[in-house]
Amino acid sequence: MTAGKPAYYVTTPIYYVNDAPHIGHAYTTLACDVLARFKRLDGYDVRFLTGTDEHGQKVEQSAEKAGVDPQSFTDKVSQNFRELSKLLNFTNDDFIRTTEPRHRASCQALWKKLVEAGDIYLGTYAGWYAVRDEAFYAESELEDGPDGKKIAPSGAECDWVEEESYFFRLSAWGERLLKFYDENPDFILPPSRRNEVVSFVKGGLKDLSISRTTFSWGIPVPDAPGHIMYVWLDALTNYITAVGFPDQEAEDFKTFWPADVHMVGKDILRFHAVYWPAFLMAAGVAPPKRVYAHGWWTNEGQKISKSLGNVIVPSELVATYGLDQVRYFLLREVPFGNDGDFSRKAMIGRMNYDLANQFGNLAQRVLSMIAKNCEGRVPQPGTLQPEDQALLDAASALLPELRTEMDGQQFHSALIKVWEVVGAANRYIDHAAPWTLKKSDPARMATVLYVLAEAIRRLALLSQPVMPDAMARMLDQLAVDPNARGFEALEAALEAGTVLPQPQPIFPRFVEEEAAAQGSGA
Ligand code: MSP
Repeated sequence: MTAGKPAYYVTTPIYYVNDAPHIGHAYTTLACDVLARFKRLDGYDVRFLTGTDEHGQKVEQSAEKAGVDPQSFTDKVSQNFRELSKLLNFTNDDFIRTTEPRHRASCQALWKKLVEAGDIYLGTYAGWYAVRDEAFYAESELEDGPDGKKIAPSGAECDWVEEESYFFRLSAWGERLLKFYDENPDFILPPSRRNEVVSFVKGGLKDLSISRTTFSWGIPVPDAPGHIMYVWLDALTNYITAVGFPDQEAEDFKTFWPADVHMVGKDILRFHAVYWPAFLMAAGVAPPKRVYAHGWWTNEGQKISKSLGNVIVPSELVATYGLDQVRYFLLREVPFGNDGDFSRKAMIGRMNYDLANQFGNLAQRVLSMIAKNCEGRVPQPGTLQPEDQALLDAASALLPELRTEMDGQQFHSALIKVWEVVGAANRYIDHAAPWTLKKSDPARMATVLYVLAEAIRRLALLSQPVMPDAMARMLDQLAVDPNARGFEALEAALEAGTVLPQPQPIFPRFVEEEAAAQGSGA
């Protein structure tokens, strides 16, 4: 741990390398990136982990289809996920691949602990398996599909599997899991998801098959030739591998485990909120503090699927609307935890109204008035009036409120709160009308512009986690020292007389091509 700083550990799911990165991957990792950035700015020692899930039948089959061996296949596709981080300006501190030696050692050590605890036994699995989900299903969960196929609730096709397998005694963990959920009411969020998990566990747990023998692309089970570990046991273990497991005395492990948040999509909650804490408790390792399950995006009202050809590609979104615009939209548009719809209209609305009109225009008006009327220097304020102080106080009061929202992963509420103050600043400028004061009361004009510039500085500091580039540019325009942009800088204030650079617009408006063409023809 960095001296005196509290620790914060946030993780994304590790992504299957059978697929190109899409909006789902971008969304999960973005949420984690914003938490990580917020906590760093707020003085925490942060560990932010993402990576790729590279074993199992699904990846093996994808490699076969591509005509390459699984290792070369995963080497190549894993790279696409590293590039996603660069593209979206994600600040993960580590990138784990389940094919790394550190991970194999960690999985095998965890396995041995489960054996020692008496929670693993050898049997035969005979039942349904969906390769797409890498999940076992009970017959009662399945529906009949075309050609006599069995279909899982996720829509994935299932195969009948019969093979020798090691089992984890999950059935013995039901009561202990329920007690754990009870004692840790915020372990699973949002609450609706928690209720689903609790009723699933109350419905009774079956022992879980945790090894496979009919293919070989995975981590070998110790002392059991022919068996490889079930890919979810392998994958979940990444969260402890990355902080040094099996060395539980490792500095990183002691500092960062248990993780503060495992961020996941709603489709993979059961693995994280039922199997994972059961494995850990059985091995005598503390479970994570929280699993947060977010919702799914649709595209213009339609379910996103490769077969419909409506997959949203992050690089295309960024090229069309701009990086920070996309980051803002994804977190502002939908209450975090709910499903949401991506529509071009909504995206452009947020970009033009919230960003260009409300925030961008505010900054642009204030900075150009300062450039023109105050010799391009931070103006010297006079005595503050109650309305001046009210605006500055409203901006400062945001920090504790945002801490609460971030600790509950309520990104949309955090942004709504910031925009309430953006709205207050716009009302303040309209009411104070500094442009009318230039002749009549230049001293008051200077005060008003100072108050606005200072309010913008605070709003920009607080908006950095969601829009790091745009806010860096806004803070540059206020000549804020790049090394003094943590939240402790909220206590400071702009210094009158500081020379400011020439103002530049921060948030362009989105101009529809047709509209632009018409405009130029008129
Ligand atoms: N490999 C497992 C996770 C193992 S973690 C120990 C896995 N990988 S995945 O590549 O399929 O994960 C995709 C992530 O993207 C999941 O969190 C999933 O919920 C999310 N999404 C996939 N499609 C999505 C949308 N349409 N909308 C939002 N998120 C979605 O699962």
